[in-house]
Amino acid sequence: MYVILGSTGNIGKNVINILTRKSLDYIGITRNESFQDNANYRVFDFIKEPQKLSELLQEAKGVFVLNPPANPKGDFDEQERISIDAIIKGISNTHVSKIIAVSTYGATPYPLCGDLSSLYYLDKQLRKTNIPTVIVRSAYHMNNWLSAIRNKKDSFTLTTLFDTDLKIPMIAPEDLAEICANHLISDNSINQTIFAEAPERYSPLEVLQNLSSFLNTVGKLLVIPENEWPIFYRQLGFSETAIKSFCNMTKITQNQEYKLPEHPYKGKITLATFINKHLNTNAR
Ligand SMILES: NC(=O)c1ccc[n+]([C@@H]2O[C@H](COP(=O)([O-])OP(=O)(O)OC[C@H]3O[C@@H](n4cnc5c(N)ncnc54)[C@H](OP(=O)(O)O)[C@@H]3O)[C@@H](O)[C@H]2O)c1
Repeated sequence: MYVILGSTGNIGKNVINILTRKSLDYIGITRNESFQDNANYRVFDFIKEPQKLSELLQEAKGVFVLNPPANPKGDFDEQERISIDAIIKGISNTHVSKIIAVSTYGATPYPLCGDLSSLYYLDKQLRKTNIPTVIVRSAYHMNNWLSAIRNKKDSFTLTTLFDTDLKIPMIAPEDLAEICANHLISDNSINQTIFAEAPERYSPLEVLQNLSSFLNTVGKLLVIPENEWPIFYRQLGFSETAIKSFCNMTKITQNQEYKLPEHPYKGKITLATFINKHLNTNAR
């Protein structure tokens, strides 16, 4: 049996779809009460009750680890560290034979850089468990763009904090799920770090063009310049520490202040395929 954290999220639910298609046993963890009567799920908050995660893992062959995104309206960095510590507490001293974890491009030891700092911390703590771990360093999630679309009457705007022609490594959650599920169920249990992205890199302008052609309308890019990033995040209700952290993270991504992998794992899903699948026909 495999244990899946983040089982109702973008990546986790797709990992579960793959396990289901292969008729493999799994237990998904969720806080969502509507799963109470589903034998394939356990309803609890693993941040508050890591001992329940430990109990489940005594019988698990492998665990898919996803650190749930903390709420940036609070102290994002502190909350992410608390949840990572809970995950590590839940996993340590169990007999689980392998871990597959979602991390990120640009993971950094520097503090206050959003997920880039917290997932670096996760990677380090997972390695200390001495359980064979595959760390999947994910490119920018394509689904981030879906929340950046604002529909107007006959048009739409796409907000970006990045330069219009910056080629950004991106990936669809379905592709991430596939690589994670494949490693989870493979017979190999070795420590590895894998960088994962889509078949091509795309700029915000290309994202706009893909959306425009799908929606059959001409959209506009709304580019937020660096000096306005704090105002942008403040308007979304972020706390002052989260604003600092997200501005640092955005700057690292914008300036590509990390070495891009030369031979990443390449998924199959292009941006056009992703958009076609996820933008429902009502949006046309
Ligand atoms: N966005 C990016 O570009 C990017 C890039 C690289 C890496 N990442 C990383 O990718 C991850 C996000 O993946 P995703 O998009 O699949 O996440 P998601 O869709 O936001 O799902 C989060 C999942 O975590 C679960 N969860 C939240 N709090 C929980 C708790 N206290 N106890 C139990 N379950 C909890 C939620 O389940 P319930 O609500 O059902 O409990 C949900 O299934 C994050 O670790 C992020 O740092 C993101």
